[in-house]
Amino acid sequence: MLQSSLPRYFGEEESFNIVNQMTAILVGAGARGRFVYGAYAKKYPEEVKIVAVAEPDKERRELAAEEYGLSSDQLYDSWEQVLSISRKADVAVISTQDRMHYAPTMKALELGYDVLLEKPMSPLPGEVIAMAEASRRYNRLLTVSHVLRYTPFWSKIKELILSGSIGRIVSIQLSENVGYFHMAHSFVRGNWNKSEETSPMILQKSCHDMDILSWLMDDRCIKVSSYGSLLHFRKENAPTSSTPRCTDGCAVERECPYSAIRIYEEDEKNEWNRFITNNVTPDGVREALQSGPFGRCVYHCDNNVVDHQVVNMEFQNGPTASFTMSGFSHDMSRTVQIMGTLGEIKGYMEKNEIVFYPFGKKMIEIPVAVEAGGHGGGDEGVMREFLKQARKENGIDNQGLTSAEASVQSHMMAFAAEESRLNGGNSVAIEEMNRRYTHSSCS
Ligand SMILES: NC(=O)c1ccc[n+]([C@@H]2O[C@H](COP(=O)([O-])OP(=O)(O)OC[C@H]3O[C@@H](n4cnc5c(N)ncnc54)[C@H](O)[C@@H]3O)[C@@H](O)[C@H]2O)c1
Repeated sequence: MLQSSLPRYFGEEESFNIVNQMTAILVGAGARGRFVYGAYAKKYPEEVKIVAVAEPDKERRELAAEEYGLSSDQLYDSWEQVLSISRKADVAVISTQDRMHYAPTMKALELGYDVLLEKPMSPLPGEVIAMAEASRRYNRLLTVSHVLRYTPFWSKIKELILSGSIGRIVSIQLSENVGYFHMAHSFVRGNWNKSEETSPMILQKSCHDMDILSWLMDDRCIKVSSYGSLLHFRKENAPTSSTPRCTDGCAVERECPYSAIRIYEEDEKNEWNRFITNNVTPDGVREALQSGPFGRCVYHCDNNVVDHQVVNMEFQNGPTASFTMSGFSHDMSRTVQIMGTLGEIKGYMEKNEIVFYPFGKKMIEIPVAVEAGGHGGGDEGVMREFLKQARKENGIDNQGLTSAEASVQSHMMAFAAEESRLNGGNSVAIEEMNRRYTHSSCS
């Protein structure tokens, strides 16, 4: 059986029994490091204190010094520096980019840190397996930031399944609706637009979905097939009068839904500005659009990751699942339909809606707690649970809900899906992949 323990619901009254404040080093003070883990330390100082930051960007280092009250001897230019000395804190939070997860994680485990690592663990299957092995070898926590499992929404669905109310799961349909603006920001213009520099979309974005499917099924995925492509965000689809940048006087900018001016300058909530510049004044944002990657026309970028993909999965005991990722949705959401022998669950994550249809009885709307913070409460939830785990509050052998061990399975599903997609949709056996990459030379 796979990991099936549940976090406490975050909407319920939490009474923390803090036995000791944990100390942490933060490796990579970018968007996740600063706005999620750093913000958590500021909000809950009784739980965790950041005592060192490793970050090559001088401006970000200075912001970190200010935000966490660090002196210059607590600031490091790189993970190599902070991890070249003996252990400085109880835990290490590693929030560098996808291809810079393996080396710092291996070093941090060796030094004796419990590690909270951003997803995906690595774009290379051999490294994923090796990291899980290292966490066992050094007897340290390696928690992967699969934030969805820590949300009230997915926890409630898992609880319903565990209660037996829908009987045995026969099939699941899950959709990841990326959101047209998010697609444009992250996967066309932004950090994760080229698979060879980061990860393929199915791993980068949808490893969360593979993880959720694997958790809900509580069964081993044995076979995967997949199709998908980069259909829309290509040069040949550029309107004839478009310009390389939205700020170049593009003739169609006003009607283009992907206009950078619309997304970064005119969005009332100003949600995305902070990801494109440290200087979020109007001048700072305009400067970023005129000279940085986020002002580029979505049809004139250097992107190659898919904008839509489907995956079919077969599980060991017979159930099946299908997954659709699409960049073409009005909101950033996940929708799910779980079909069991005694009932069905339908869920819409962004609306926090869960409806349970027991067969032969009236449908029931299931209340879901509303939790503040990113990813439906999962951003705070993962850090909170990780710290509890590190404090051994849940028992000394408890590896937590999203241990590296549990993540290997969902990462393998993503690797298999990508292999299948690149090979015309041929079915890929997970066991065969595991064999190929276990004790391989980390490729
Ligand atoms: N769990 C989630 O839901 C979730 C959501 C978004 C992103 N992520 C993942 O989080 C990770 C970080 O994403 P981000 O948006 O914060 O990226 P980012 O680029 O904003 O942050 C990465 C930081 O690492 C720093 N860095 C580079 N080299 C370094 C070195 N040698 N030592 C220390 N730091 C170094 C960079 O300067 C940068 O500030 C990625 O792997 C991404 O896939 C996870």
